[in-house]
Amino acid sequence: MYRNHTCGELRASHIDEQVILAGWVQGIRDKGFMVYIDLRDRYGITQLYFDQELTSKALFEKAQSLGREFVIQVKGKVVERSSKNPNIPTGDIEVLVSDLEILNKAQLPPFTIEDKTDGGDELRMKYRYLDIRRNPVKNKLIFRHKVSQAVRSYLSKQNFIEVETPYLIKSTPEGARDFVVPSRMNQGQFYALPQSPQTFKQLLMVGGLDKYFQIVKCFRDEDLRADRQPEFTQIDCEMAFVEQEDILNTFEGLTRHLLKEINGVEVAEFPRMTYDEAIKTYGNDKPDIRFGMKFAELNKITQHKDFNVFNSAELVVGIAVPGGNSYTRKDIDKLIDWVKRPQIGALGMVYCRCNDDGTYKSSVDKFYDQEDLNQWADATNAEKGDLICILSGETNKVRAQLSALRMELAERLGLRDPKVFAPLWVIDFPLLEYDEETQRYHAMHHPFTSPKPGQLDLLDSNPGEVKANAYDLVLNGNEIGGGSIRIHDKKTQAIMLKHLGFSDEEARSQFGFLMDAFEYGAPPHGGIAFGLDRLVAILGGQESIRDFIAFPKNNAGRDVMIDAPAPLDNAQLDELNLSLKKK
Ligand code: AMO
Repeated sequence: MYRNHTCGELRASHIDEQVILAGWVQGIRDKGFMVYIDLRDRYGITQLYFDQELTSKALFEKAQSLGREFVIQVKGKVVERSSKNPNIPTGDIEVLVSDLEILNKAQLPPFTIEDKTDGGDELRMKYRYLDIRRNPVKNKLIFRHKVSQAVRSYLSKQNFIEVETPYLIKSTPEGARDFVVPSRMNQGQFYALPQSPQTFKQLLMVGGLDKYFQIVKCFRDEDLRADRQPEFTQIDCEMAFVEQEDILNTFEGLTRHLLKEINGVEVAEFPRMTYDEAIKTYGNDKPDIRFGMKFAELNKITQHKDFNVFNSAELVVGIAVPGGNSYTRKDIDKLIDWVKRPQIGALGMVYCRCNDDGTYKSSVDKFYDQEDLNQWADATNAEKGDLICILSGETNKVRAQLSALRMELAERLGLRDPKVFAPLWVIDFPLLEYDEETQRYHAMHHPFTSPKPGQLDLLDSNPGEVKANAYDLVLNGNEIGGGSIRIHDKKTQAIMLKHLGFSDEEARSQFGFLMDAFEYGAPPHGGIAFGLDRLVAILGGQESIRDFIAFPKNNAGRDVMIDAPAPLDNAQLDELNLSLKKK
């Protein structure tokens, strides 16, 4: 038997018991006549001690020879500590060791395995297994497990069944590039790894399974950010005989359950906002509504004077920053530099101070009088002591810029409290989105999303105006889920694919299987997929998903621990008929 207790378990009630423990040496304090060891495992830390007077010379010397991260097994007696440590649960006791076995030696770790480590990001990724020994990483993985368990049990109780779908499939268009896998048995042909199990879950509905879910890996070859990984996990769900309202209610239920179960939070409101309103009032489709600073469009009340910057702008739009009048001139100049950085791209920023005595002082006083400025304050809901920040220019760009400024200011003002949860359904997304690069329309969600009833004809005359039965779930400014009611008849699906630029032949070869299935009694259906990594990170109070993934990739899509991706050897390339032609 390696152990009969864990390192987090022993208390005063165990005093005088003989115990066996196993774990890693977290630290050694050699006092000459006493050696103290902190022994760590997943469950905690227990102090061991070796007393020169009470143990054999050989055992004492063995204890002195231990190094950090050695794996050891000890036998000994639980005794009361003379100086207790109230900071750890085992702090009342220590174990007087009578027997020590070194199960495995360890090299000196490249960074300290403690809550606060000296290891940089890249180094900790290379030795991820050592990083996982640290509480901050380990606890996030345990937290993720709890969320997954809560999801499984909730959905199972709601009669969803978990079904696995294949990973070696044909491309499913979700807007990213595919990762592909060459087939040895079908030379020159490739599988694609699923960007999501979208078509399979729809086929499960045709198969009559009625309510499906799966906690499933998805693969997308896209540029990475803090909230994106090339392989990530979805809670993928689909239901038959449902309308949008049914889906929103069901998954509002799941989200409420998770917030209650995991965070102990009851959310009062689960508001809904149309896509158009989100863009107009917050400048993006995943607004953080934990705080105000709503956009006010100011064209009407600014474009009547000689200020050319505003007069020539497509959109003049502002926000009131709470308490912003306390900013010094230097602070505001820095803010202006911030919006002018290439990542944000604003050409400048007009501001207006709202003084405590009810007067205003703007950066464009030459053009606007107190009455004008009072109108700006009314429109932006600015109070005395606030600062109004105004950007102007091309509508889409300026909205994105002001949205970035709003988030930055909220962060600085401490308005993005990770313990406050503000979910929001964004609904009525456009069906199509125009892509300047390819000069054509793409499905904003995916090609299987149905248009709003009665809008199919608009596809010909005004494709950009067609709204979809599509929705996103936003939590604290992050898109944690998205889904739609699907097309379930062949004719509509064919029309949709045609508008997306697929020829009949391309549509047949890529999606023939789905369209055929629609001809064998496909029920009306719809669903949603949550990003599990994102959901877990946000419930855990963070926005970076990396630490909630056991073995994440870095920003270049590399696993620096196993050093992947890597070249294949020639024999393997030959076998796959992929040999690089010699020049
Ligand atoms: P969608 O593409 O919106 O929908 O993805 C669903 C959710 O998955 C998460 N997500 C990601 N998380 C981490 N890294 C990524 N690279 C990444 N990409 C997406 C997001 C997102 O909201 N098949 C549809 C769902 C449906 O229609 O039912 C789909 O995949 O949180």
